[in-house]
Amino acid sequence: MRELAGRVAVVTGGAGGIGRGMALAFAEAGMDVVIADIDEDGARAVAAEIEALGQRCLPRRVDLAKPAEVEALAEETWGELGGAHLLCNNAGVTTFGMMCDGIPDADWDWVLTVNLRGVVHGLQSFLPRMRELPGEKHVVNTASIAGISPGVFVAPYAASKHAVVGLSETLREEGAAHGISCSVLCPNAVATGIVEADRNRQAEFGGPSGAGNEMIAAFVAAGLAPTYVGRMVRQAVIDDLPFIFTHADTRELVEARYERMKESFAWADRWREANPEPDPL
Ligand SMILES: NC(=O)c1ccc[n+]([C@@H]2O[C@H](COP(=O)([O-])OP(=O)(O)OC[C@H]3O[C@@H](n4cnc5c(N)ncnc54)[C@H](O)[C@@H]3O)[C@@H](O)[C@H]2O)c1
Repeated sequence: MRELAGRVAVVTGGAGGIGRGMALAFAEAGMDVVIADIDEDGARAVAAEIEALGQRCLPRRVDLAKPAEVEALAEETWGELGGAHLLCNNAGVTTFGMMCDGIPDADWDWVLTVNLRGVVHGLQSFLPRMRELPGEKHVVNTASIAGISPGVFVAPYAASKHAVVGLSETLREEGAAHGISCSVLCPNAVATGIVEADRNRQAEFGGPSGAGNEMIAAFVAAGLAPTYVGRMVRQAVIDDLPFIFTHADTRELVEARYERMKESFAWADRWREANPEPDPL
């Protein structure tokens, strides 16, 4: 999407972290911004920063687990701002520290609902409206490097982010005929509030437990600045990149995964050579 100035961006999870970085980067480029976040005070604070840059902002409390709230947001965006050419499905949460078989159902439900269903709800409410707008349209879905390589001890997170990568690649193919492109953001550590994600855990998923993780907190705190990532995303939207890899060193993780697949194909080739006849049913 080459033209940003004068258009509208919607950023979920924009009250802090990477979402705030993206929202500010888009405002710097002359876009008005809708901030949708379960943290209303945080959304208002970012709106003040956007207005200080001379752009309009609608900060709204939205729980992405609730499709009616996302639908109301889309309706208001079209009513107040005339529509949005850019949708960033960015909000995400995680639990930490347990092997996949020991994770409580409530953790699976919370993480899969916010990280995957939240993105789906965004697409369901915004895409039909975006399709009708003239010009180029773009969706950025925030996954993670854990959406392409193994996410050890964060199984629900890794599963949700693999799903977001697959969904994003699918949308990129399907949207082309409708002028809608899609990029998937795959960061490694970015210095945000992700380690305290359960501060915003809804009561129906068990509410906040105060759980953190010191080791991961140090890793995340040493990560990239969210505003740097926001500007990188902005340029990637202009350049219409399919994947946005924020960290050069994650190339090795991605290549290692494809190496494992190539080895498995080579094994299958050898197996088929040794077993040329299909089994009779
Ligand atoms: N920080 C990292 O190292 C890192 C790495 C890879 C991917 N990511 C991804 O980046 C995205 C942004 O996370 P972040 O790191 O900025 O963390 P963050 O916690 O700072 O920001 C996440 C935002 O999402 C909001 N949110 C949580 N639940 C919500 C809900 N139900 N409805 C609406 N909003 C909700 C939070 O209030 C918060 O403002 C997430 O999808 C995360 O998985 C982060």
